[in-house]
Amino acid sequence: MGADTSALQGAGVVVTGAGGGIGAALARRFAAEGARVVVNDLDPVRTKAVAEEIGAIAVPGDASAVVDEAREALGGPGSIDVWCANAGLSSPGDAFADEDVWAAAWDVNVMAHVRAARALLPEWLERGSGRFVSTVSAAGLLTMIGAAPYSVSKHGAYAFAEWLSLTYRHRGLKVHAICPQGVRTDMLTAAGSAGELVLAPTAIEPEDVADALLDAIGADRFLVLPHPEVAGYYRNRATDPERWLGTMNHVQRAWETGAR
Ligand SMILES: NC(=O)c1ccc[n+]([C@@H]2O[C@H](COP(=O)([O-])OP(=O)(O)OC[C@H]3O[C@@H](n4cnc5c(N)ncnc54)[C@H](O)[C@@H]3O)[C@@H](O)[C@H]2O)c1
Repeated sequence: MGADTSALQGAGVVVTGAGGGIGAALARRFAAEGARVVVNDLDPVRTKAVAEEIGAIAVPGDASAVVDEAREALGGPGSIDVWCANAGLSSPGDAFADEDVWAAAWDVNVMAHVRAARALLPEWLERGSGRFVSTVSAAGLLTMIGAAPYSVSKHGAYAFAEWLSLTYRHRGLKVHAICPQGVRTDMLTAAGSAGELVLAPTAIEPEDVADALLDAIGADRFLVLPHPEVAGYYRNRATDPERWLGTMNHVQRAWETGAR
């Protein structure tokens, strides 16, 4: 028997980056729970295909710029109950990655979340309810080999979700930070040899991420760990950073010598 998610029946839900992968799985799952769903993605063809499949509304475009249109599509002021800030860029590279790569990582992986919160907080705080779901990554708690802009921006996304939760929880805001390791999507494929080394062996399906989120919603839990072992890695990082860095450096060297 799953957790009680009856509050999702009839709820207005927006999922960004939902043209495929984790976002599409979240959109499908919310629709199956009886929510009224808006599917957003930069790619208009994939946005429309997912929306048609699940009886949702398609609002293509940049996740940072679609709050007003999504709100209108769901019925006007106060109609968005759940915002899933899921759109993300894989942003590989080291310190020498182009400035454009760093800027895009910051813009999509962090600022899109900030902009959505800015647009939604006034109405959510006024009525005393709202739910903000951030698809972060285990990289936001730990790191990702070979992807400095991704790791840094995902730490930012996690920090923002955490900040929202602790600042507004007594005013009715629910926040969930989803922090998976590998998930079998286009992004995992694009992660190349580093993804194959550290993510692919334990990769899960996008539907598993949706299940984990629904459990967390039912249990009113902030941190969503579709790979439960991430809790132990996070604890190790906090309690013994030297040892954790040494372990991660072994992974880095394995990648440099073998898998690259
Ligand atoms: N796949 C993994 O292993 C994994 C692990 C941890 C976290 N994540 C996170 O999950 C989220 C979803 O990624 P995914 O794995 O489903 O990959 P994906 O590439 O299948 O999906 C990402 C989607 O976001 C869309 N997108 C990119 N920029 C956008 C923008 N500015 N506005 C609207 N849409 C935009 C893309 O078009 C794409 O459809 C991302 O935030 C990613 O960082 C993925």
